[in-house]
Formats: sequence, structure tokens, C-alpha cells
Amino acid sequence: MLRSALLRLSRSQSARRLAESAAARRAARRFVAGPRLADALGAVHQLRQKGLFTTLDHLGENVTRLEDAEVATQAYLSLVEALAHGGLPSNASLKLTQLGLRLDRQACASHLRRIAQRAAELHMFLRVDMEDSSAVDPTLEICRALRAEGLANLGVVIQAYLYRSQADIDLLLREGFRIRLVKGAYQEAEPVAFQSKSQVDANFDTLAWQILQHAQRVPDSWGSKDGRVPPIAAIATHDELRITQVERHAHQLRLPPAGLEFQMLYGIRPDLQLALASKGYPTRVYVPYGTEWFPYFMRRLAERPANLGFLLRNVARL
Ligand code: FDA
Repeated sequence: MLRSALLRLSRSQSARRLAESAAARRAARRFVAGPRLADALGAVHQLRQKGLFTTLDHLGENVTRLEDAEVATQAYLSLVEALAHGGLPSNASLKLTQLGLRLDRQACASHLRRIAQRAAELHMFLRVDMEDSSAVDPTLEICRALRAEGLANLGVVIQAYLYRSQADIDLLLREGFRIRLVKGAYQEAEPVAFQSKSQVDANFDTLAWQILQHAQRVPDSWGSKDGRVPPIAAIATHDELRITQVERHAHQLRLPPAGLEFQMLYGIRPDLQLALASKGYPTRVYVPYGTEWFPYFMRRLAERPANLGFLLRNVARL
């Protein structure tokens, strides 16, 4: 109930105005590196010293004007240049609704093409995040079309809560895509998605096994040593039971730690991030930055309503 309410609020403009108070901004800083690219680069340097790779997300989604999609495209071009020229063990993650997916698909594809072309010139990988279920087909269509044009530096995200994901993974792996597996962060209805945590967890384990088996069979499935290109198998969760299961599967398949990557969000379970890195697994932290943090922050609250207490403590400090 609370999760649904928080996810509904994440799309509300009036809640957004109310929440963008100094207190909420302060609370959001637990999950967001800061408003500027320089803040994100600072976080990348700190995490690198701890042996962690990163992927940077310039926050923003569901733009309502194509001018804003162009601004986001420019921001990503600057991000890719900064990461490449800084020689950082990092890549970028982006959302297609920030590049105009809901306004004009052709324009969105052409924005992504520009970013991906420049990224390819700089040997940089881009991960296309997955949004709500209405965005899955258009997102995958655009990624496939650009891959067919030769842009092989685009990876995708698959959500374990969707019934369709097993079939999507099967095809995407055969097409050569690198996949990040997540549980799924949006509000989805019963006709398209599992509703209970236990069902989502069970499907996550099944899908992780499917991806790891493929990674074990394909010779070119590892990531690059410089931390820019992830392996084919990227397992993104903070759930220790899922992680233990993945480790077991990898062991069973004789897939060494370097053959897969764990990914977690900035500000969540830093202890677990370090523990996995110390076992030799490439471990990547998703670092969001920018001023459009509200929907991202609300999804983090919805995942763990106990985080509301953290927000309220910040309000009380005013
Ligand atoms: P689960 O929700 O079961 O949490 C397991 C444990 O992790 C909790 O018990 C708690 O300890 C900790 N935890 C989880 N969330 C927390 C939070 N918000 N605050 C504090 N502790 C928390 N989703 C999507 O739909 N599209 C996408 O593109 C992405 N991309 C993405 C990238 C990366 C790197 C990660 C890690 C996650 C995503 N997600 C995503 C989000 C994902 O779908 C999911 O909502 C979150 O990862 C939370 O689910 P867990 O797998 O951690 O499990």
C-alpha cells in the first residue's frame, strides 16, 4: 500500500513542489551525489579508491518538451567526454524518456545515436535503463535499431518482475546485448508483472541463472579491465539472498568472479559493495547526479518505506 502511494507521488507535480524543500534535498543527498557533474566525478574518485567501478546517471525522465531532451543530450555528451578524458573506470546510464521517448521516437533515437556514436569513439559503454512497462518495447526497439547500425556499445536492463523477461533475455543474449538484471522499480499491474516479493525473487534467480549460463558459454563475455565496459552479466541488487544464489550458480558453472559484475545504487549497502569487491567481483555503483532528483528519490523511498524515517528526521532538523 505504502509502496504504491509513494510510486504514485513520484509522478505528482504538486508533491514534487512540496517535497523540494531544503530538508528533502538534504535527505536525497544520501542517494544522489549532488546537483553538478563535478559532484558525481568527486564520488567516482572516492569510490575508485575503494576499488569500485561506477556508472553515472544524469537525473531526469519523462521530459515534456523536446528542448529539454536536447539539453539532456548535451549533458550526456559532456558526461561521456569527462569520463573518457579523466580515464575513469566508469560508464553512463540513461533513460530514454529523458531523451524524448514519449514525445517523438525518431527524435529520441537520434539523440541516443549522437551520444552512443561519441561514446563509441571514446570506447565508452552506455547502459539504457528500463522504465515502466509501457516503455519496454520502444526502448528495446531503439536499442536494437542502433545496434543494427553498428553501435554495439549499448547495453539494456531487464526487470525480473515482468512476466515477459525470460523471453526478452533469451533474444537479447542471442543478439549480443550486455544485460543488467534488476528486480524492477515501477508500479506494475497484475496482467504484466508478478505482484509478490517471493515471486519476483524466484524469477530473479531463474533469470540470473539464464544470463550466467550464457556468460559461461560465450568467450567474449567479460568486461574490460579499465572498468568502462561491463561483462555480459551484470547483477544489480542489494538482496544478500539473491547475491548468495548468484555466487552459488557462478561457482557451479565454474564462472570466475571476473566473469560477472555486481551493481548497487549509490548510498545503499556500501558495506556489501566493498565485501563483494574484496572477493574479486567487479562491483559497480550507480551514481546519480543533477537537479531532477525527485522521482528517483521517491522510488528509493518506495523500495524501503523505512527510509521515510530518514526523510522525517531531516525535516525535524529544520
Ligand atoms: P529488495 O528491494 O528486496 O531489497 C533488498 C535489501 O536491499 C533490503 O532489505 C535493503 O537492505 C536494501 N535496499 C533495497 N532498496 C533500498 C533502499 N531504497 N534504501 C535502503 N536500502 C535498500 N530498476 C528499474 O526498474 N530499472 C532500472 O533501469 C534500474 N536500474 C538499477 C540499477 C542498479 C545498479 C540497481 C542496483 C538497481 C536498479 N533498479 C532499476 C532498481 C531495482 O529495480 C530495485 O528497485 C532496487 O534495486 C531494490 O531492489 P533490490 O534488488 O535491492 O531488492
